[in-house]
Amino acid sequence: KKILILNGPNLNLLGVREKGIYGDQSFESYLEELKAKFPGLELSYFQSNSEGAIIDKLHEIGFNFDGVVLNAGAYTHTSVAIADAIAAITTPVIEVHISNVHQRETFRHHSYLSKNCKGIIVGFGLDGYRLALASF
Ligand code: DQA
Repeated sequence: KKILILNGPNLNLLGVREKGIYGDQSFESYLEELKAKFPGLELSYFQSNSEGAIIDKLHEIGFNFDGVVLNAGAYTHTSVAIADAIAAITTPVIEVHISNVHQRETFRHHSYLSKNCKGIIVGFGLDGYRLALASF
């Protein structure tokens, strides 16, 4: 199965940014662990800080991949455009958040994306990506 892991803004700084919330491992290093855990999956990875690039990527793979694991970062809470892109494509999307957004500021409690996603995994740290992959 072809699966894309798609990370949004500021997630390029994992391992550097707010370590108390997001941990001290870089995503690149964690991705190697995921590849080893799921030898049967064809895993691709894309990260962008820009909303348009995330939407372009969803359009590009959204009719030919088997799944997307999406952490849209703060765009989760603001982006009707990403929500619409998820609705437009046929590939199922799983929404992941490293932190438990419901324990944090109120503005993080609402996601524009969840309604259009197959499922949501929140608050399990980086392990949330593994849990999402295990569902495919
Ligand atoms: C996040 C939660 C968002 O509220 C935040 O803006 C992020 C990361 C998470 O993975 O916990 O950038 O999506």
